[in-house]
Amino acid sequence: MEDMRLADRTASARENKITARGVQVYYGTNHAIKDVDVDIADRTVTAFIGPSGCGKSTFLRCLNRMNDTIPICRVEGRIEIDGEDIYDKRVDPVQLRARVGMVFQKPNPFPKSIYDNVAYGPRIHGLTRNRAELDEVVEKSLRRAALWNEVKDRLTSPGTGLSGGQQQRLCIARAVATSPEVLLMDEPCSALDPIATAQVEELIDELRENFSVVIVTHSMQQAARVSQRTAFFHLGNLVEFGETGQIFTNPRDPRTEAYITGRIG
Ligand SMILES: Nc1ncnc2c1ncn2[C@@H]1O[C@H](COP(=O)(O)OP(=O)(O)OP(=O)(O)O)[C@@H](O)[C@H]1O
Ligand SMILES: [Mg+2]
Repeated sequence: MEDMRLADRTASARENKITARGVQVYYGTNHAIKDVDVDIADRTVTAFIGPSGCGKSTFLRCLNRMNDTIPICRVEGRIEIDGEDIYDKRVDPVQLRARVGMVFQKPNPFPKSIYDNVAYGPRIHGLTRNRAELDEVVEKSLRRAALWNEVKDRLTSPGTGLSGGQQQRLCIARAVATSPEVLLMDEPCSALDPIATAQVEELIDELRENFSVVIVTHSMQQAARVSQRTAFFHLGNLVEFGETGQIFTNPRDPRTEAYITGRIG
């Protein structure tokens, strides 16, 4: 009997990439995330939706310890990736962020060349053995981010000289260059035109063959298109979490229904 339960637990641990339990986040006295439990499945796109200020970005930043960089921010509870507590003292946040990459709403290329932006992670983590390998990773990452054709003849130009949408795809290329296990994307398409948005959505779909993707979006069409699971946040609470189809067609909580039908937001 005991063995059965252990076996069950092992099976579910394999499917879940990230397990969060009892997560609380405070900014000073502002209680921004309230007792959130969530399981992020492996090889799945999970969308976080909800009105502005409900805590989507805050919760996303818990998953790669980006909140550590905000002095007044305090995170409680337990978050595990592959069963490992990411807030354990022995975990190096820099190493963690190579495994759990992030793309922000505002593109933030480094003041370096296009090539060096993408090569940055592989270089600091020693992921390639020589220049030819690094060239290959840079090209592959830029292709994945649907940017290669636009920049292949200007790899030594500054990344900051690209258009907003190109800069965002550069940041996506930079994030995928370390082959992260999890990619966190906070409204990654808000600076993109419909063509680049479609390309990024295609990329997200491709990434899920190998990684977990968590995407924050204000576009319910986008959540419905790219995700398999959707979490609805409201006032710091995780109100509802389930299969994307169910959340959009048959929400169980009246707050979810009010949001997806446009009555709160
Ligand atoms: N760096 C910060 N310092 C202080 N308070 C913050 C900080 N970031 C977020 N907050 C607060 O935490 C709460 C949740 O904000 P958060 O940015 O996570 O919301 P969000 O759901 O991502 O909103 P949006 O859709 O507008 O991006 C808000 O009350 C916000 O004011
Ligand atoms: Mg946000």
